[in-house]
Amino acid sequence: MHIIIATPECAPVAKAGGLGDFAHGLSRELALQGHRVEIVLPRYDSLRLDRIDGLRKVFADLWVPYHDGHVRCDVEHGEVDGISCYFIEPHSEQAFFRRGRIYGEPDDPVRFAFYARALLEFLFKSGRQPDIIHCNDWQTGLVPVLLYEVYARLGMDRTRVCFTLHNVGYQGWTDDQVLRVNGLDVERLMTADRLRDPGNPDAVNLLKGGIVFSNFVTTVSPRYAWEVQHTEQGYGLQSLLLQYDDKFGGVLNGIDGDMWNPQTDPLIPAPYGPETLERKARNRSALRERLRLADGPKPVVSVVSRLDRQKGVELIRHGIFYALEQGCQFVLLGSALEPALQAEFAQIARELETHPDCHLELGYDEELAHLIYAAADMILIPSVYEPCGLTQMIAMRYGCVPVVRRVGGLADTVFDANYSDRPFAERNGYVFDDFTPAGLESALGRAIGLWRRHPEYFRQLRLNGMRADHSWAQPAQHYQAIYRHIRVQRSDGVD
Ligand code: ADP
Ligand code: GLC
Repeated sequence: MHIIIATPECAPVAKAGGLGDFAHGLSRELALQGHRVEIVLPRYDSLRLDRIDGLRKVFADLWVPYHDGHVRCDVEHGEVDGISCYFIEPHSEQAFFRRGRIYGEPDDPVRFAFYARALLEFLFKSGRQPDIIHCNDWQTGLVPVLLYEVYARLGMDRTRVCFTLHNVGYQGWTDDQVLRVNGLDVERLMTADRLRDPGNPDAVNLLKGGIVFSNFVTTVSPRYAWEVQHTEQGYGLQSLLLQYDDKFGGVLNGIDGDMWNPQTDPLIPAPYGPETLERKARNRSALRERLRLADGPKPVVSVVSRLDRQKGVELIRHGIFYALEQGCQFVLLGSALEPALQAEFAQIARELETHPDCHLELGYDEELAHLIYAAADMILIPSVYEPCGLTQMIAMRYGCVPVVRRVGGLADTVFDANYSDRPFAERNGYVFDDFTPAGLESALGRAIGLWRRHPEYFRQLRLNGMRADHSWAQPAQHYQAIYRHIRVQRSDGVD
């Protein structure tokens, strides 16, 4: 099949979080399984050009209809870890078109809506008629809308859309001008059953458009699929998702086995595997040296996260002080978009600056993230909600035991050492329910206790996590089954 991945992120060239890993990992696996896969991204100023091979302009002067005229775009092509990627770059007086960071500007909806339009114009003008466009999150919400409202009439009528929801907390709310400037009929589309936001009759909801107009909608874990239909995690889209139940399901993400492999990871000083677990100690020493932490027989508790309300920042803050009180070391690597959260954690970092057992690193640092997974004994993930969560799966692969709140994909992948009904060989972490300091302590306290009193069991928990299969092989099969279900059969029978 010919599959286009429409996504605002792709690791490692444009990554803000797990969506970047998703686009990279799924595309690689689909290509390995024999499909023709192409990723189309906006050409951010912040692209990691050093990670793109053979970048060159392949399409100059792509005139994309916009407002009463056109915007001229260039399309560049390059390979990212062997995956074919296109980057669309608009040239315009309009300030919003090129950006250093991926998200976080007030006009994000306008910019990404244009990206959707430019993507389809590129496919159309380059003569592509893929079997599937796989869209991701609200940034690509207009893709299926434009496909059916505009491009199908121009002849692109064989392409079908699979849409994955990575975070229903963000829906791309904006005003109806966004439809008008992209050549869509406002009267037709601003209705309750199409793009009008259920909570605000004046707002367009781009994610809703993606859901309504796609042929199939997935989210990134079975548990989150249930939560968005039945709890406030649907952020107002519960009834819509229930209405479309027959084209909706949860597919648990995988992680890329090459990118996240402690046996071959070039970013850690002492590679190791289940048989050489004791080498983890050398990575711990390297981390302590790098962050100027004391040496000694203390467990290292970690956080690697975007610092966002979704991630349970209040409990992360509590976890820092609780872990230190319990005689642990604490390492945090956190990236905040929201200035208030950035300031709050910067303040805590200053308070603890001279503490020999604590280091808070604010920012985004790929290399340090790898070292933390390799060095730490536990990772804390007390999310308010978590569509899938990759950090718990990555941590497990590195023998770092997750301590998580029982929500979304965390509930689907972490099984409590004491209370799970699974056999011991499948138990791999600690889980709590209540979003309270006491809830967190009940799980982190047990983890620390086991580390201290029963190191041999703790080692077994690490091994259980390391041996579980979280590869992309199975999820990619699942997506292929969805693509086959929705695509238009080719008359020549070629897959
Ligand atoms: P989300 O997508 O909600 O941020 P996930 O758990 O799905 O959460 O994925 C997070 C990904 O981003 C992981 O690969 C993690 O290692 C990485 N990551 C998160 N924060 C940082 C950071 N501050 N520096 C480096 N990598 C980070
Ligand atoms: C989102 C979610 C995260 C998920 C990731 C990849 O960023 O917050 O839980 O793992 O997308 O699907």
